[in-house]
Amino acid sequence: MANTSTPDPKKLRSRAWFDDPSNADMTALYLERYMNFGLALEELQSGKPIIGIAQTGSDLSPCNRHHLILAERIRAGIIEAGGIPFEFPVHPIQETGKRPTAGLDRNLAYLGLVEVLFGYPLDGVVLTTGCDKTTPACLMAAATVNIPAISLSVGPMLNGWHKGERTGSGTIVWKARELLASGDIDYQGFIKLVASSAPSTGFCNTMGTASTMNSLAEALGMSLPGSAAIPAPYRDRQESAYRTGLQIVEMVASDRKPSDVLTRESFLNAIRVNAAIGGSTNAPIHLAALARHIGVELSVDDWQEHGRDIPLLVNLQPAGEYLGEDFYRAGGVPAVVGELIRQGLIAEDAMTVNGRTIGDNCRGVEIEDEKVIRPYSRPLKENAGFSVLRGNLFDSAIMKLSVISDEFRAKWLSNPDDPDAFEGPVVVFDGPEDYHARIDDPAAGITEDTILIMRGAGPIGYPGAAEVVNMRPPADLLKKGIHALPCMGDGRQSGTSGSPSILNASPEAAAMGGLAVLRTGDRVRIDLRKGEANVLISDEELAERRTALEAQGGYPYPENQTPWQEMSRATVGQLSTGAVIEPAVKYQRIGQV
Ligand code: FES
Ligand code: MG
Repeated sequence: MANTSTPDPKKLRSRAWFDDPSNADMTALYLERYMNFGLALEELQSGKPIIGIAQTGSDLSPCNRHHLILAERIRAGIIEAGGIPFEFPVHPIQETGKRPTAGLDRNLAYLGLVEVLFGYPLDGVVLTTGCDKTTPACLMAAATVNIPAISLSVGPMLNGWHKGERTGSGTIVWKARELLASGDIDYQGFIKLVASSAPSTGFCNTMGTASTMNSLAEALGMSLPGSAAIPAPYRDRQESAYRTGLQIVEMVASDRKPSDVLTRESFLNAIRVNAAIGGSTNAPIHLAALARHIGVELSVDDWQEHGRDIPLLVNLQPAGEYLGEDFYRAGGVPAVVGELIRQGLIAEDAMTVNGRTIGDNCRGVEIEDEKVIRPYSRPLKENAGFSVLRGNLFDSAIMKLSVISDEFRAKWLSNPDDPDAFEGPVVVFDGPEDYHARIDDPAAGITEDTILIMRGAGPIGYPGAAEVVNMRPPADLLKKGIHALPCMGDGRQSGTSGSPSILNASPEAAAMGGLAVLRTGDRVRIDLRKGEANVLISDEELAERRTALEAQGGYPYPENQTPWQEMSRATVGQLSTGAVIEPAVKYQRIGQV
């Protein structure tokens, strides 16, 4: 239960709007308009903290829509603890609904929320998080402004079912696409199979980017312990919303800010938790962005150093078999953290929003169902984090080791002399449209030995970076039983994908990274042990190709379609450093009083 001690009114930043005798002109203006819907003067001047509820749910954002209901319980908690709730909208980001990419809107929602948190009379804020980018967008803004902030996950959907089997969000789409391509199901069957995975309100029920980012928000200490995994429709979710409302008022009283919680130790905790849960390949991008906005050093190499050798404990799709309800019943994030604490793998002193350390919150928490969360001694997979690769094609890219299937290993990683390396000729696609147009065309020349390349899909090339690096093999190979070819690219891939792609390659082709000069037919060699990815052509030839491409004006990419695409392309960084709006990073702790 939250401590509901009263904040010191003298320190509240909202006083500068509502109770500043030295600036009567403006105070009157601020007051009269916030009174016009029924707030009383003595309420606004009572010294009670004004608490924002950053509302990410809407009809356009179905994953987060349940927050419209949960907001009532957040309000109840805020009022109960002595605060005044002010709910306001955040720019919507629906992962499955936004063209060209939802990735483009993470930074837009971030910028909008920074302006709101900075420019309005807010003493603290509840961040309503859920669908993939809503969580990092909100956390990044709270980091920049650095006023007390707590995140509330909307929670996953209930488990999906089809013919007695669990169907998981996203993961079923990749499978259904293969079944459709190979003729095993028709269009109606395809839609029905995909829709079976979405039986209720909430976000993706797999360990996709949404479950990952909300689990990591909890591991970072930014949400109440045990709250990330509660399914959206459960009564516990409403209770958690109420407790979150209580807690934020206490946080304002204690002046507990994001900078007290988001330390390097908490980021390293999150990296380890990400490996243990089989988390999304989007996590390194979003955590890099968050770290930069709060001013913590974090590099892509930290993922290899601190996460790579952690085993996979959580048996959720896409790396395993279960779904969100099962994860919650098995103990959720506290059970995973509790298990990592027993191995000495968590910095227990890291502070969390409730004023206790993560050690105090999770020490001694047991796993409730070992089929769903495995004990450390019996993991699903060893060494399940991300491998970082580099070479003459890019400065860094990552590969998610927990999703390397037995089929993939048998074909590509079974050379007894060199079990960690493979090579093959590449077929290069320039963006998702090119891939969709040619993947099943025999003229593309794809065989069972081909490595598929996706470029033009980074933050500049395909504004926001498209989730397209995981590519299915052509239909004729699928019919022969070949379900996976190695994929590599400068875009992202969905957290719900079980493809062991090499992705987030930085710099991207559009920024003249090495992928820009790769050609279909070149041979590429990957060495997972050495962490290398190289095209097997000479430095001289690479330099010649680069000079020729530069003479043509560089790697071509599509025109801007909107003003924000133009501004984003002019200011965005690469995936390895968070794909942030670079000029934004220097603005830190701007809302502190
Ligand atoms: Fe919104 Fe997956 S599409 S959480
Ligand atoms: Mg996604």
